[in-house]
Amino acid sequence: MGRVLAVANQKGGVGKTTTAINLAASLALKGLKILLVDCDPQANATSSLGFGKEPSRKSIYNVLVATESAATALQKTSVESLELLPSDKNLAGASVELVDAENREFRLKKALEPLKPNYDFVLIDCPPALDLLTLNALAASDAVLIPIQCEYLALEGVSELLDTLMRIRRSLNPQLEVDGILLTMYDDRTTLSKQVAADLRSFFGTQVFQSVIPRNVRLAEAPSHGKPVQQYDPASRGALSYAQLAEEVIANGQKRPGQGPERSDQAA
Ligand SMILES: Nc1ncnc2c1ncn2[C@@H]1O[C@H](COP(=O)(O)OP(=O)(O)OP(=O)(O)O)[C@@H](O)[C@H]1O
Ligand SMILES: [Mg+2]
Repeated sequence: MGRVLAVANQKGGVGKTTTAINLAASLALKGLKILLVDCDPQANATSSLGFGKEPSRKSIYNVLVATESAATALQKTSVESLELLPSDKNLAGASVELVDAENREFRLKKALEPLKPNYDFVLIDCPPALDLLTLNALAASDAVLIPIQCEYLALEGVSELLDTLMRIRRSLNPQLEVDGILLTMYDDRTTLSKQVAADLRSFFGTQVFQSVIPRNVRLAEAPSHGKPVQQYDPASRGALSYAQLAEEVIANGQKRPGQGPERSDQAA
């Protein structure tokens, strides 16, 4: 049964989409079945995987607003065993269109439920806001993965986000865990990056992933080629760091019975 992870942070440009795509691809290249859900009207995950604007293509908009089955909107990607539920700019209107809808925070959860048995992990790329779309993602998820850019005031941002998650546990999803805090765009030549990383680790301890994503130009270039970094430049530091993160994410899933891939010693 797929373990559902939301990649979320209300702050923009911290590496959510880069993480969602490249973690999804790393997991898929390890032979796991992965669904990436693009829940952002900017549709950056969709375009980064090589899907151009195509008004007739079904998207998560059809699923959330028109309650069409998610299975009809799935797309195969260039990575075998990685499928995409694409986004579309129409999604920007979803919050308004759903304003009076019943159970409007639970539409994504309901749509993903029948698909979960087909995957080991479902990753959801969230928009940079705590809007109805992010609430749908958090309500549908087992855990949240929080990318944090190694910069000044990073600590304050993450504390706010963790407070928000506490409120979401009370209202929408009591089971929601933090899968981990991920340091992104780390530059080991700067004192600031090192200081921010040290502060986050001393404050949040083991909630911070051991894997750190370096600032790496290959990660920024790959989307314009419509490929995850593992296909664009598999030997790059960016690719290697996401492969390492994938190992930690798998290990976290294996601690939760019924979520994520089966352990090999359980498979027989
Ligand atoms: N580790 C990295 N090294 C270099 N560039 C990066 C790295 N991670 C992300 N970027 C670049 O930084 C920009 C923002 O990253 P990304 O789109 O992943 O952030 P985001 O949190 O999804 O943004 P938004 O909040 O707008 O959805 C992009 O141009 C991306 O290519
Ligand atoms: Mg994004």
